[in-house]
Amino acid sequence: MELKGVILAGGTGSRLYPLTKVTNKHLLPVGKKPMIFWPIEKLVEVGINEILVVTGTEHMGDVVALLGSGKDFGCNFTYKVQDEPGGIAQALGLAENFASGSKLAVILGDNIFADPLKPYVDRFLSQKDGARIVLKRVEHPERFGVAQFEGDKIIKIVEKPKIPPSSYAVTGVYFYDSEVFDIIKNLKPSKRMEYEISDVNNEYIRRNKLYADFFESWWTDAGTFSSLKRAQKLVEELENGKRI
Ligand code: DAU
Repeated sequence: MELKGVILAGGTGSRLYPLTKVTNKHLLPVGKKPMIFWPIEKLVEVGINEILVVTGTEHMGDVVALLGSGKDFGCNFTYKVQDEPGGIAQALGLAENFASGSKLAVILGDNIFADPLKPYVDRFLSQKDGARIVLKRVEHPERFGVAQFEGDKIIKIVEKPKIPPSSYAVTGVYFYDSEVFDIIKNLKPSKRMEYEISDVNNEYIRRNKLYADFFESWWTDAGTFSSLKRAQKLVEELENGKRI
């Protein structure tokens, strides 16, 4: 497979404290599996077999103990430490050597969804270059990066807007060509002192190279008590065959 995978599983998990006091958010259970299994299995399902897992210093040992070499999943894991939780774009910047020129499929470790990635991967691989994001209509867009449209065209991504320009959240599923690393190197930290993935996507918009898809079935993150509860419910229905 010409595409490599990246799972970003750093950050503090502060919104799930005290569940995350002694462990990493992505190791918490969602249904019958640790949270991080869900995005990993989505990458493996689409044939991606080289996967980089990025996490912080505190729980890297537990993450490696859980995931191992990748042989149980049918893939090879590479691990990279993010010293400080300086944002999603910073964590992705650590993937440059791993990518070594390949295109990347990136999933945030707390994102759980039902749709297979195949159609998005196929469309991304047929793009000459650029990036691709996946959007989902949500009830509380202000919690996310939100797409601003002019007609069908995305003209901007606004991170956690007080007044959302649409109901379409940018999910934590992204596809990038190797230009992403130069973009990341030129980023400035945001007001919350993080290197924002929305700034990366806005730069692709500026270059006229950002494409978008929409999830058809359900999608959620699992980084707050309410979204974790929602993820549990959706996954339970999936495991019981009640929902796709
Ligand atoms: O879930 C989708 C949303 O994820 C997007 O709509 C937003 O545009 C994007 O900024 C992000 O928002 P969150 O506020 O949910 O991001 P959070 O800080 O919770 O981080 C999400 C995941 O990214 C987390 O599970 C692990 C990874 N991460 C995050 C940070 C801050 C890292 O690997 N390193 C980091 O430093």
